[in-house]
Amino acid sequence: MKLSDTLEKAFNAQITLELQASLVYRQLAIELELMDLPGMAAWLRHQADEEIVHANKFIDHVADRDNHPRIGATAAPSAPVASVLDAFEAALAHEEKVSASIRDLYRLAEAEGDLDSRPLLNWFLDEQIEEEATVKEIVGRVKMIDDDGPGLLRLDEELGARPVATTEVR
Ligand SMILES: [Fe+2]
Repeated sequence: MKLSDTLEKAFNAQITLELQASLVYRQLAIELELMDLPGMAAWLRHQADEEIVHANKFIDHVADRDNHPRIGATAAPSAPVASVLDAFEAALAHEEKVSASIRDLYRLAEAEGDLDSRPLLNWFLDEQIEEEATVKEIVGRVKMIDDDGPGLLRLDEELGARPVATTEVR
């Protein structure tokens, strides 16, 4: 069953927001690379790739419903960041924005009685809980480290140990 015009528009806005999130993470990865923290940069770059996977999930859903996925305009991500804490706080702020947008999408789908999008949106609600918790934990640890060199290097090594990114839809 096709998405209503209203839902199609809202899904397309979400596709654009996920791609915007990817750009935000990619720029943050660049900033951390320039701060000589390659592990954190790799972690952020992996997040950037994951946001493309998210966008692809929404694109596939819209196309599978026989609607027309359309990528909207994105804004240039802000740079540079003043500190490691700034970078992860910016990431958290964007995750919170994405979570709010997915909740709105869910409410809209519910209001329209669109059952077919429910599994996908449930997946995203779960995913956002995890994403926010992960970034929040990093923000907390960066605050604890408070510009202590060895502490930052340890966290950099830890975050850099994350598995290699993929842009394939899982
Ligand atoms: Fe996402």
